[in-house]
Amino acid sequence: MEIAIREGVLTPDTFAGLRAACGMPELEPVLIERALENSLATFAAVCGARTVGMARLVGDGAFVFLLCDLLVVPLWRHQGIGSLLTETVVNRAKSCVPPGRAVVVSLFSAAGREGFYTRLGFAELPVTGLGAGMQMFCL
Ligand SMILES: CC(C)(COP(=O)(O)OP(=O)(O)OC[C@H]1O[C@@H](n2cnc3c(N)ncnc32)[C@H](O)[C@@H]1OP(=O)(O)O)[C@@H](O)C(=O)NCCC(=O)NCCS
Repeated sequence: MEIAIREGVLTPDTFAGLRAACGMPELEPVLIERALENSLATFAAVCGARTVGMARLVGDGAFVFLLCDLLVVPLWRHQGIGSLLTETVVNRAKSCVPPGRAVVVSLFSAAGREGFYTRLGFAELPVTGLGAGMQMFCL
């Protein structure tokens, strides 16, 4: 059956279910709801009535764009769904700015998945003129 990418249909329950199917730890429902509400765009990869993957675009809609929560359930991997979701997120970011204006889409790769993203056009940091990505965990 054909895969379709749908924008704005992802529910908190589906988000939580996809995380569980990918072996990821449970998150507080209130945080999942807030994450979906505050995303610039959410995408679901659907096959008939089943949601088999997702991705979110987070940012300010102008200068900062982050691809996050790219997930495809294990049985549906290696069929191009993750790539299609990634391309859809990048195109959605481009649609936020005037034609011809470049956008920078950032992401944090899972360990060992960098090759998946470089194949799709992302560059690993640091690159010439730009240092490493950095972050802080705060409790
Ligand atoms: C990362 C992830 C989203 C990729 O999803 P996917 O649907 O398997 O992605 P694709 O099918 O587009 O590409 C996966 C691989 O299959 C290959 N592939 C794509 N279509 C294919 C096909 N028809 N036949 C064979 N291989 C194919 C791709 O070349 C790619 O190879 P690579 O991993 O060496 O780059 C998925 O593995 C996942 O959900 N992982 C767990 C969560 C995670 O790590 N998310 C990323 C966080 S940064």
